[in-house]
Amino acid sequence: MKIKIASIPHVIFMHLSKLCRNAAAACLALLTLAANGQPQPAADTAPQKDARLAAWRDARFGLFIHWGLYSIIGRGEWVQWNEQIPVDEYARLADQFRPANFDAKAWVAVAKSAGMKYMVLTTRHHDGFALFDDPGNDFTSVATAAHRDFVADYVKAARDGGMLVGLYYSPLDWRYPGFFFPDLQLKNAETMRDQYHRQMRELLSNYGKIDILFFDGGEQNWLGFGGQWGPSAQWQKRPAGQSYKGRFNWQSDQVYAMLRQLQPGVVINGRADMPEDFHSREGDGALGNFDSDHPWELCTTLAGAWGWQTNGTVKPLRDCILLLVKAAGRDGNFILNVGPRPDGLIDPPQARRLKEIGDWLDKFGESIYGTRGGPFLPGAYGVSTYRDKRIYLHVLNWAGDGKLTLPALPAKILRASLLGGGAVTFSQSEQRVEVSVPVASQNAPDTIVVLELDQPASGLKTIPVDPSGAK
Ligand code: GLC
Repeated sequence: MKIKIASIPHVIFMHLSKLCRNAAAACLALLTLAANGQPQPAADTAPQKDARLAAWRDARFGLFIHWGLYSIIGRGEWVQWNEQIPVDEYARLADQFRPANFDAKAWVAVAKSAGMKYMVLTTRHHDGFALFDDPGNDFTSVATAAHRDFVADYVKAARDGGMLVGLYYSPLDWRYPGFFFPDLQLKNAETMRDQYHRQMRELLSNYGKIDILFFDGGEQNWLGFGGQWGPSAQWQKRPAGQSYKGRFNWQSDQVYAMLRQLQPGVVINGRADMPEDFHSREGDGALGNFDSDHPWELCTTLAGAWGWQTNGTVKPLRDCILLLVKAAGRDGNFILNVGPRPDGLIDPPQARRLKEIGDWLDKFGESIYGTRGGPFLPGAYGVSTYRDKRIYLHVLNWAGDGKLTLPALPAKILRASLLGGGAVTFSQSEQRVEVSVPVASQNAPDTIVVLELDQPASGLKTIPVDPSGAK
């Protein structure tokens, strides 16, 4: 859920004076103002950012895990909110949370079987229940029935398994009325903020190197949940595009300075009003446009919900492969989510589907891992990726005659072959490139034609393919 905000000069002024009062924090980093007027540390230079992102970008494919008390109910991670379960009643789920089949190594094995190279676990979702130890808060898996720091187990297993290690964290916490009424309950909101800053410090200090931080719900504009007081003390919905203008501030600049100090190499998404390393696109419909300037990741679910849902339907293999390929061809990463069952097990039908994706990657992974999107832009035919002197044409739709015509390529094609084997012919002129693959050699859903060039493809500009300029 993302809301775009227009910058408003008087809000910027308000925060400028706040900024001056807060000189100590300002010293920690160079500050700029975000569109919503909140002070933000300036992003570092492009080469620094590129270096930080290199391994994550090369990895291309990851496993998202949503797991917590909500898994016990089995109706997704928003169940408390959706069904308006009172906070005290919901908290009692912690007495039942003793996941008998939790095995972080098994999660890692599932991720590896899918060909995934990184993992991100919900260390704490909006319900406030932490899967790690927090001396300042008892609503954790360590202080309740499980008596276990699941984050510690997970980080160790993922690291040992050669995965990049990612943590999801939600600054907002539904237990705090201050989240919903940040001005009316200002002190309470500030206590929630203390928890956020303290828990970030815990997570970034106690578990060794962390590669990825996936924030969710840490933006000013989530405050008050879209609502605000009207001029005559009535509750009203915040008009679309208008930012939260109250007194509360997450002080994300301080968190950002801390995280860069404690984990200089960690890459972060953009859902906490900090300079993002990568952008989160959410849901199957959010694939969006090709973008190689702003690193991004598509996140979506394997079985229709983030947290465990008893009646979830597993996506067909074809859909999973197409999402992965289309993301890579738009120069983005893809993270696919499972919600393990309350006992900790990844549901076998989901694990089986993931293994099938891994089998596909075993054969065709060289066209995904370590590649960048392009140089041929996505079009009706499909997408392209490249690495070194190779271009991989991912042909998802053939015109019918098994022939694909593409615009001219300013590099010499030395050879064409089919990944996985099969017949392919090509021709190249100053006007166009043509490749033909007989029906018998085509693969569903993706026929991958490898073009070997006389030079690195990284030096080529992107090439629009469809006359309509299809993205
Ligand atoms: C959405 C959902 C949230 C989930 C997240 C993952 O924001 O509301 O529950 O964790 O997507 O990206």
